[in-house]
Amino acid sequence: MLSDMRAALFDLDGVIVDTAKYHFRAWKRLADELGIRFDEGDNEMLKGVGRLRCMAILLELGGLEMAPADMESHAARKNDWYVELVSAMGKDEILPGAEEYIRYLRSRGLRVALGSASRNAPLILERLGIAGLFDAVVDGTTVAKSKPDPEVFLAGAAALGVESAACTVFEDAAAGIEAARRAGMFSVGIGRREDLPEADIVVRGLYELLPGEAGGLGPRGTPCPRP
Ligand code: BG6
Ligand code: MG
Repeated sequence: MLSDMRAALFDLDGVIVDTAKYHFRAWKRLADELGIRFDEGDNEMLKGVGRLRCMAILLELGGLEMAPADMESHAARKNDWYVELVSAMGKDEILPGAEEYIRYLRSRGLRVALGSASRNAPLILERLGIAGLFDAVVDGTTVAKSKPDPEVFLAGAAALGVESAACTVFEDAAAGIEAARRAGMFSVGIGRREDLPEADIVVRGLYELLPGEAGGLGPRGTPCPRP
């Protein structure tokens, strides 16, 4: 449970920063070019999912088929647009309470890692000025299997030298919650319970986990929630 954790593994997109809006704008631009109807609701399916799998989902939505090499080149163009957008980000785009909560955990002696599917994670951490907050960074450049495979979190736990049972995962995507469960880790869903039914607990944002007057690792001033 939350109060027993010795290491915290954070997803990036949707947990520390809201990059989904930039992913959406870039995928939407590609969808429009390809004549595929794509809206914000469809974009939900792309959360937590690796880049090429997103490309495949987009094509499925449009009922299109494409050679693998063409899929790669379209996904690369989408990424160029996305990188342009995230390159303009600054510290002000860190989600409420995220940096404070990570600093709080570190002050309590916990080990902290990033566990993200994104190959742009190093760029985003650098833009936000928080790369130094992580003892280890595991991202789409270092793992082969995408969430819901547990590889990203198992690699994070190994890099921190902490066993799975003492790790907590913070995730906004259902695929990431499933990855945490398969890794044998406690999971904190960021978002709405109806979207993350498998999470051990769900909060709206990391700000809810900042210590209240009572202190501790639970939501402000309340005891730690238990699964
Ligand atoms: C995840 C996002 O963190 O990273 C997904 O939730 C995204 O939406 C995936 O597709 C891969 O990101 P990138 O930056 O490598 O294209
Ligand atoms: Mg996410």
